[in-house]
Amino acid sequence: MSKLWGGRFTKEENELVNEFNASIPFDQRFYRQDIRGSIAHVTMLAKQNILSNEDKEAIITGLNQILEEIETGSLAIDPNAEDIHSFVESTLTDRIGDAGKRLHTGRSRNDQVALDMKLYIRDEIDEMDQLLYQLLSVLYDIMKDHIDTILPGFTHLQKAQPVTLAHHYGAYFEMFRRDRERLCDIRKRMNYCPLGSGALAGTTYPLDRDYSASLLDFDGPTLNSMDSVSDRDYLIEFLDALALIMMHLSRFSEEVILWNSNEYGFITIDDAYSTGSSIMPQKKNPDIAELVRGKTGRVYGALMSMLTTMKSLPLAYDKDMQEDKEVSFDAIDTTRNCLILFTDMLRTMTFHKEIMEDSAKHGFTNATDAADYLVNKGVPFRDAHGIVGQLVLFCESHKCSLDQMSLEDYKNICPVFEEDIYDAISLQTCVSKRLTIGAPGQAAMKQVLEIYKDYLNK
Ligand code: ARG
Repeated sequence: MSKLWGGRFTKEENELVNEFNASIPFDQRFYRQDIRGSIAHVTMLAKQNILSNEDKEAIITGLNQILEEIETGSLAIDPNAEDIHSFVESTLTDRIGDAGKRLHTGRSRNDQVALDMKLYIRDEIDEMDQLLYQLLSVLYDIMKDHIDTILPGFTHLQKAQPVTLAHHYGAYFEMFRRDRERLCDIRKRMNYCPLGSGALAGTTYPLDRDYSASLLDFDGPTLNSMDSVSDRDYLIEFLDALALIMMHLSRFSEEVILWNSNEYGFITIDDAYSTGSSIMPQKKNPDIAELVRGKTGRVYGALMSMLTTMKSLPLAYDKDMQEDKEVSFDAIDTTRNCLILFTDMLRTMTFHKEIMEDSAKHGFTNATDAADYLVNKGVPFRDAHGIVGQLVLFCESHKCSLDQMSLEDYKNICPVFEEDIYDAISLQTCVSKRLTIGAPGQAAMKQVLEIYKDYLNK
């Protein structure tokens, strides 16, 4: 395929140069965005009388046909083309002749690729948002069913205080809700159209950039043509948002792996999301969760890679920017797959309530409440802390839990204890008394669930 810019060149290029320079192996994935941008561009050119209506119609019909043929598989994208822009333009010209050669009037590949990438990322933001919404819906359903399911809350991975499963998963609900907000912020900030910026300095044609922007659902045109062709900030922000989504999924996966282990036994991952071992017949491994955790690294890598690529590029466009695509596409595909699989794994997981509750009973998770009990009876907190420390020592040497101690044993350590200590340290009491908004108590949790319901129904 001949080059768009062959005119001033006299020597044939060498094959490795062609291959090294080409982006068609990866930028072919935005043929849709490229064609959409071109249709908007010629629509604007015709409105401004830069292009005849006849040429415009021929171009749009030709482009729509190319689009349809690529989608149905009857037109293969030529792997020898330099990039998707060259491929679409030369295919069009082969088909409609001179009108096709007018498509690129008042445009450069620099503003073209800036537009294509923006359109593509904007679509991906919307897709990620949808996937996060589905994950949040699954989380919400689990939370609703488990406002009474008690389990130990941990700090330092040591049992700390009793919480509920609704509360524990509510923490992830908050994380993924913020992830959606972040995407929404990025979308707003990036939603300005670079088309019409030309190579770097705009064009001499009387383009209507506002019109092009509105045809492509942007909030307006970008205001500096040099920035327009060299801005990849929005992409870096998007990769950062993906890195955070993956970080949240990875933490969640880590807990799925722990909770699914023999030692915890809090959950069972459905067979469909586990795999076996080739040698150990008893094994059911949490591979999907492990892979989500593992793949987080490559999404972080994409973010670092883009930051580094951009860090010393002089204005305006430099070919280095072509490197934005492979890493971003990989990060997008990875995050998309992880979100889909993780959501399905969560939806099909079994929760073992009794094991969770039993675990909460056996780690002195109610020790703080025993101290608070003494404080309510007038003992200073620091003294109460010491007294409960003695209770814990007693239980450890007698291999029992706080609720299994006799009142006599309680009184031997501190005479302030009465029969009502048993109610004060029951796990149900410990949880239900935590009523401030954001705490695990059922009443507080119900309030939060109402807010989440409204949020999901918006
Ligand atoms: N394939 C190029 C990219 O991805 C398109 C822009 C080419 N522009 C140029 N001046 N060589 O960045």
